[in-house]
Amino acid sequence: MTPAKPKTQIGVGGLVLGARERRYLEQVIRSSRLSYGPMTRRFEARFAAAHGCRFGVFCNSGTSALHVALAALKERHGWKDGDEVIVPAVTFVATANIVFHNRMRPVFADVDPATYNLDPAQLDRRITARTRAVIPVHLMGLPCDMDPILAICRGRRLTMIEDSCETLFARYRGRLVGSFGDIGCFSTYVAHYIVTGVGGFALTSDSNLAVRLRSLMNHGRDSIYISIDDDKGVSRSRLREIVAKRFRFVSIGHSFRATELEAAVGLGQMDARGEITRVRRANARYLTEGLKDIEDHIQLPSIPPDRDHMFMMYPIALRRGPKTGLVNFLEEGGVETRDIPPVINQPIYRRIYGDLESRYPVAAWINRSGFYVGCHQYLSRRDLDVIVDRVHAYFRSKGKAA
Ligand SMILES: Cc1ncc(COP(=O)(O)O)c(C=O)c1O
Repeated sequence: MTPAKPKTQIGVGGLVLGARERRYLEQVIRSSRLSYGPMTRRFEARFAAAHGCRFGVFCNSGTSALHVALAALKERHGWKDGDEVIVPAVTFVATANIVFHNRMRPVFADVDPATYNLDPAQLDRRITARTRAVIPVHLMGLPCDMDPILAICRGRRLTMIEDSCETLFARYRGRLVGSFGDIGCFSTYVAHYIVTGVGGFALTSDSNLAVRLRSLMNHGRDSIYISIDDDKGVSRSRLREIVAKRFRFVSIGHSFRATELEAAVGLGQMDARGEITRVRRANARYLTEGLKDIEDHIQLPSIPPDRDHMFMMYPIALRRGPKTGLVNFLEEGGVETRDIPPVINQPIYRRIYGDLESRYPVAAWINRSGFYVGCHQYLSRRDLDVIVDRVHAYFRSKGKAA
């Protein structure tokens, strides 16, 4: 008889809504205000400042933020349908999907085998006369190697959107991620660094872009009326202007708004971010310490000295062979895993592009052999020991079988 599947005990993410979140949530409940208002404004200002940016636009997801980011830049620069945007060959599908949603074409560039992030040399190879923008993705908590990527963008006159959905508050050579590109996008979805349920940010320091982003996530409406407070306490002439324009739409926009409830949870999590960072890093160090004796079998995360690793997740890649056996062994032992996000081998991308893996060897290896486990702040020392023991047990059993 097949044994019952154990309930997942050691998840890739977690959430406890504690006293901090409750305090902000109670303020929202007392105010009976859910639409864009004071809580969201506070969250936007704090989140933008924490990433060295002037403006923050809180949306209902990281995907929505990326979607309006590319739409705003396409609109501004007059890019044509079918123009190209370079995205890494290892990323969550949303990075590439939003390029299609904007009627442009994603072109993949292979990634670095040590960091899993966009390889600048591969980016350079993929530029064509139709390339307009690049979306480097800071995966799993680690910033990309930004200096060479920035140099290529400047030299080839390409625009940059950072997909920092998996990497919050991190610095590369002293500078905060999200502040390198024209727009930086972040996610606060479940199991991310900061969790609001659903949510995401588009950050920029360009005031015109900020207005465009805000309009695009709000049905494309005239920015004169974005919040229900915008017509309160204004002069008579201003009120007339607002009344005349508040149902005016200047672009084909979207309904990508979040509510004051998500912002309240986000503010509570922001208050805890120092602690979240400390525990995640300590957990990652503990896992590395426990697993380093089997590094000839598995590649553990490396941290280049010029940047932070925020450890949204703890990636592991088998040096040889597929991950399937190890992943199933972990899952059966109650350790949850996820693939390092695969895109080029997904059915929809195979249908559009055919077999891409033969042209992207590093991505192909990661798709076959790379996965991650959690290292979040809700894991106990015992949980971490179970992960370490289970990985060892797997290789011991393979050794015996050999
Ligand atoms: C790299 C990357 N980009 C974009 C997204 C999309 O964010 P969301 O799930 O908030 O839409 C994610 C989400 O997991 C992601 O990991």
